Amino acid sequence: HKELTDFPKDFLWGSASAAYQVEGAYQQDGKGKSVWDDFVKLPGKTFKGSNGEVAVDHYHRYKEDVALMAEQGLKTYRFSIAWSRILPEGRGEINQKGLDFYSNLIDELLRYGIEPMVTIYHWDLPQNLQDLYGGWESREIIKDFTDYAKILFDNFSDRMKYWVSINEQNVFIMHGYMLASHPPAVNDPKRMYAANHIVNLANASVTKLFKEGNYQGMIGPSFAYAPAYALDCLPENVIATENVNDSFAYFWMDIYRYGRYPKVAFRALEKAGIAPIIEEGDMALLAHSTPDFMGVNYYQSMTVAANPLDGVSMSGEANYSGEKGKTKEQGMPGMYKMVANPHLETTNWDWTIDPTGLRVCLRRISSRYDLPIIITENGLGDFDTLEENNEVHDENRIAYLNNHCLAVQEAISDGVEVLGYCTWSFTDLLSWLNGYQKRYGFVYIDRNEVEEKELTRYKKASFYWYQNVINSNGQTL
Ligand code: BG6
Repeated sequence: HKELTDFPKDFLWGSASAAYQVEGAYQQDGKGKSVWDDFVKLPGKTFKGSNGEVAVDHYHRYKEDVALMAEQGLKTYRFSIAWSRILPEGRGEINQKGLDFYSNLIDELLRYGIEPMVTIYHWDLPQNLQDLYGGWESREIIKDFTDYAKILFDNFSDRMKYWVSINEQNVFIMHGYMLASHPPAVNDPKRMYAANHIVNLANASVTKLFKEGNYQGMIGPSFAYAPAYALDCLPENVIATENVNDSFAYFWMDIYRYGRYPKVAFRALEKAGIAPIIEEGDMALLAHSTPDFMGVNYYQSMTVAANPLDGVSMSGEANYSGEKGKTKEQGMPGMYKMVANPHLETTNWDWTIDPTGLRVCLRRISSRYDLPIIITENGLGDFDTLEENNEVHDENRIAYLNNHCLAVQEAISDGVEVLGYCTWSFTDLLSWLNGYQKRYGFVYIDRNEVEEKELTRYKKASFYWYQNVINSNGQTL
């Protein structure tokens, strides 16, 4: 790799998780309910009815987990805070024990020199706010979300520098309000765009508060970016790809960076009668809340072709079982459809494996938004087997991560400013809809959908691979 630029000296090699997926203790020490607690109980919503009530018990074992992070050499650990641990009702009284848990976790990380990176919202909305006013569908949430974030900034920001405001707004909004596969399980595009606009305002309000409050460090959103490729150079397929770029990517990232909706995407919503209502002051708030970095969660690219008016439509059905080849074509009639890429292999869950796609993401974000980038998630979901001597030979994961890290290095060599790279995930954890069998970690957790067992931690082969990458600052890739 002699033409490649070295990773910067202070590059943040990290790994990530989210509260509901790792913590467990879902009703302990005063924690309130989140919208996921009841949703997972609805028949057929998650793989074999799996849930995060115990998850991987990180709440009780965080010291053991942080010690493993230190042994591996992590520079940063990205985790999310459960809103309903801090404010059981989503607003009002603070739960001191919730604050203590995260305060202790932050101190434990700092003790080993690991930089905490906090996600303020990773999908676990307090149930009370959903019941009270419909959660993200009410403008009341803008103040509640801002008040909650202020509690975090006031309590933790003297000790840490990196804040992710909202994780994958595009994913929880589309799954929650169009595909009905996340809470609140709605299938209504008009309500989806209305709720999405309110999330934009809440995100902007928190970003503005952080900047105006002169807290140290940086704040930015994490966006789930699957860059779109045209199936081929047939001009109709290229237009379909433009439709996808506008409505799947720029529709969110243009708002974060410039406070504007892409004109073409917005016009399409107006024509369909599903555009959000924009009130006085909204666009000014959005325009004055530029993030300090763009966070990107990258797993795969997508490939796009034209879709006739009577063509395929979107559905919440997907491959949640890990049986390859079960994914059906989806799209928006008259606009686009997603098709298989003949050049790429896929995972057991039919996600394309495309390291170059990560370089494409980084290049596009850099050119269009001119912001530093943190890769806040990237990883391979796979079936791992605990073998003799408690070893896990996750060679597929090592290959996946190695090639994606090289793509990051290529992007850096191209001139993109990348501050850090977090794998998904450090330990195995609950995959929201795919249960415990879809594993992502460097550390194997001995449990499955039905049995919690002892939740023993075992280091996989990839644990040592990443340890070497970090120790050599990328020289061993
Ligand atoms: C991202 C989320 O969408 O991808 C994570 O931020 C999630 O919370 C990860 O677990 C992997 O997705 P999945 O569906 O394979 O668990």
